[in-house]
Amino acid sequence: MGAAQAVGILGGTGPAGRGLGLRLAAAGWEVVLGSRAAERADEVARSAVAAAGGRADGLRGGTNEEAASQPAVVVATPYDGAAATVRALRGQLEGKVVVSMVNAITRVAGEFQALLPVRGSMAATLQGVLPGSHVTGAFHHLPAGALGDLDEILDADVLVCADDDGAAAATLAMVEAVPGLRGVRAGTLASATAVEALTPVLLNVNVRYKAHVAVRLAGLPAER
Ligand SMILES: NC(=O)c1ccc[n+]([C@@H]2O[C@H](COP(=O)([O-])OP(=O)(O)OC[C@H]3O[C@@H](n4cnc5c(N)ncnc54)[C@H](OP(=O)(O)O)[C@@H]3O)[C@@H](O)[C@H]2O)c1
Repeated sequence: MGAAQAVGILGGTGPAGRGLGLRLAAAGWEVVLGSRAAERADEVARSAVAAAGGRADGLRGGTNEEAASQPAVVVATPYDGAAATVRALRGQLEGKVVVSMVNAITRVAGEFQALLPVRGSMAATLQGVLPGSHVTGAFHHLPAGALGDLDEILDADVLVCADDDGAAAATLAMVEAVPGLRGVRAGTLASATAVEALTPVLLNVNVRYKAHVAVRLAGLPAER
């Protein structure tokens, strides 16, 4: 295990943020699950740590402000709360890598469909709200259920979108801290439009085939 890293997760009390936080804590990271209500985050973190049986002791709860004060930050709120959440924390997020796992999705007649944010993706939307931060997109396609169960073996590619190399490298390091995940640089934030819009497609596949599919790209060289 490498040197301990630290990350805060905004909206970390939901299944997606909690699951990712659990995986990173199991990899030795210090993780703050952020919430609009610190007590809720505390409760969620305590129960996750207890369920992990000593495998994720670096996980704790806090406010979204505490999460935003960590060196790296993940946004895991619903899409319609994401921009306001980060706007309120703009000062603390200045200069940091902010990883958006936010998908804008709706359901039409039972089918999952992508909503298209005005800037093309939620990652680009958050970058617009946070001009002084380095917003990246990642983790969009990982099912929260699998993330949140440390006994489940992960085997998936995570498509990473980033406008600058340093932010991309930091995000890839976060991805690859989790056993079973391979980070793949998928382009700039312009590519986040397609990456985010793929999520409802995967959800529809899951519904049709009663499955939990993962993205795996064939043909990538082992050394990248
Ligand atoms: N679920 C998945 O499998 C999955 C996988 C990959 C990516 N994602 C994406 O990750 C994000 C989180 O997914 P989720 O299923 O964990 O969502 P969620 O449970 O609906 O929301 C996560 C947390 O966000 C906070 N929140 C709710 N409404 C908010 C608002 N209006 N403003 C600010 N905070 C709010 C809540 O925490 P507090 O009440 O404690 O503040 C909630 O526990 C979504 O954008 C989703 O598309 C989900």
